[in-house]
Order: sequence, then C-alpha cells, then structure tokens
Amino acid sequence: MSPETTKRGLDIFSLKGKSALVTGAAGLIGSEISAAMSAAGANMVLVDQLSADEISSKFAAKSDNSNGPTLAISTDITNPESVESMTTQAAERFGSVDVLVHLAAIDAKFDADAPDGADGRFETFPLDLWKRSIDVNVTGTFNVTQSIARQMLKQKSGNIILTASTYSLVGPNNDLYNSPTGNPMVKPVDYVATKSFIPNYTRYLATHYAKQGIRVNCVTPHGVENDNPEWFKENFAKMSPMGRMSSASELSGPFVFLASDASSYMTGSTLVVDGGWTAW
Ligand SMILES: NC(=O)c1ccc[n+]([C@@H]2O[C@H](COP(=O)([O-])OP(=O)(O)OC[C@H]3O[C@@H](n4cnc5c(N)ncnc54)[C@H](O)[C@@H]3O)[C@@H](O)[C@H]2O)c1
Repeated sequence: MSPETTKRGLDIFSLKGKSALVTGAAGLIGSEISAAMSAAGANMVLVDQLSADEISSKFAAKSDNSNGPTLAISTDITNPESVESMTTQAAERFGSVDVLVHLAAIDAKFDADAPDGADGRFETFPLDLWKRSIDVNVTGTFNVTQSIARQMLKQKSGNIILTASTYSLVGPNNDLYNSPTGNPMVKPVDYVATKSFIPNYTRYLATHYAKQGIRVNCVTPHGVENDNPEWFKENFAKMSPMGRMSSASELSGPFVFLASDASSYMTGSTLVVDGGWTAW
C-alpha cells in the first residue's frame, strides 16, 4: 500500500457525503444495496415504479434509517418525462447525483403449466413479452443513463453502475430449470437478449465519458436466493463451483466498492459475482 492509502485506511470505501440514486430500489437486490449504501454513509435516492410510500417502507424494513437522509421517488423508467423528473428531484434535494446504481429490470417469471409460450420456449415466445422486456431493460436503461449522464456532465463528475447478468456473458444451461414434476422450462430469450447488451453498453459509456470525470462499470450477479424451490437450489448447487446460490447481501460489498473511491481507476469493467459459474 502507498503511504497515501495507508493513511486513509478503509475510508476509501466510505460513501459519506455522496448522494446515490438506486433504481429498482424496492426489489430483491435493490433493497439490500440501498441499505448497504446508506450504511456506508450515502444520502439515498430510492427509485422504483411502486409508490413513494411503498418504496420507503421496503427500505425501512432493511435499514435502521439512522445513517442519513433518503428520498423515495416513484418513477417509470420506460417514460423519459418520468425519468427526467426523477433526476431533477434528486439533484434539487441533494445538490448532485454522485452515484447511479441501475438495477430496475424485468426478469420475467414463467409458469410450468401455462400454455402459449409462457414456458419460455424460443419457437413460441410471444412478441409482446419480447417488446415489453426491450422497453424496460434496454430503453429504460437508455432513459436512466442519458438523463443521469446529463446531470453528471453538469457536475463534472459521477459514477454509474449498471447491472448485467450471467446471461450477459454465457447462455443458459436449461438443465437448471428442469423441475422433477413440471413441464420442461427454459430461460426465456427476452431476458438473455436484453441483458446481453449491458457489458458493451457499459464500455461504450465508460470510454465516452472517461475524460469527463464519469466512471461506468457493471456488476454481474447470479442466482440470488429468493425462496426458490428445493429442486431448483439442488440443480443450481450441482452446476455451481461454489455449490450454492448467493444471498442478496453478498452483492453489497461489490456494489459499495464500485460506488466508492476504492475503485477510482476502474471504468468499463464487468465485476462478476457468480460463485464461479462462468469460470468453468
Ligand atoms: N436476482 C438474481 O438472481 C439476478 C441475477 C442476475 C442479475 N440480476 C439483475 O439484478 C437486477 C435486480 O434484480 P432483482 O432480482 O432485484 O429483481 P426484482 O424483480 O426483485 O427487482 C426489480 C425492480 O425493478 C422495478 N421495476 C421494474 N420495471 C420498472 C419500471 N418500468 N420502472 C421502474 N422500476 C421498475 C420493480 O418494481 C422491482 O422492484 C436486475 O437488473 C436483474 O436483471 C438479478
């Protein structure tokens, strides 16, 4: 460690004095990351499509609220006016948006017994579900990053963290989705297609803004446990080098690290948090 790093110690991981906006803040991962970033000292802007009261109560369930001010904003990321209003409210409240964590997305659930392509099979996958995922996962990401980038350019600094998926890097092994009782299921193409663009979109924005004080990276989570059926956890364990799913809290460190000055020389990178899934 350099003398400078030794002097500052773990302060380089602190988010004190930074304002952080999290989209998808009411979700499985978003509620955990929002609480972790607040605990690391950030002023939090919590964004989701739910009402502000619902977003706040999800946050309160995970956080003791003692760490700093929060602002909850109901936003539809597919609507550019709604997104612009989000950015304006956040900047007015905290003076800047120092960190964006963009998690909001659709990861369509599928029902083993449902007909009409809802089993996820490519040859019958419905066009309306495909378009809905493009709208939220691709256009929503464009709307949010464009609006926040404009704000960060005014500030002459900023830090954007996007959320990819294992299926941004590799195709699904559909044996994972084989239940012992139900019809065979597969991971639907809309999710894989709309998550595949994230790492290269990250590189596009990172190089575009590298000289303007704005860093852009993405995190690749995988298999975050959420009351999954036992058969799914067993399938997952057999395919995973670490032999288990992750808890949402195991993503806190990687997101806080990227949001903090500890990662100041990182931009354009994909931080993989998958228990080794893509390592073999
Ligand atoms: N859970 C996993 O195992 C996993 C694995 C890899 C990647 N990811 C990625 O992590 C991110 C978060 O996943 P999660 O599991 O917490 O999902 P989640 O469904 O629990 O949360 C997503 C949140 O996004 C919000 N949202 C959806 N559409 C919106 C819209 N139009 N406007 C505003 N908000 C909207 C939802 O209300 C929800 O709160 C996603 O980008 C997902 O692709 C998750």
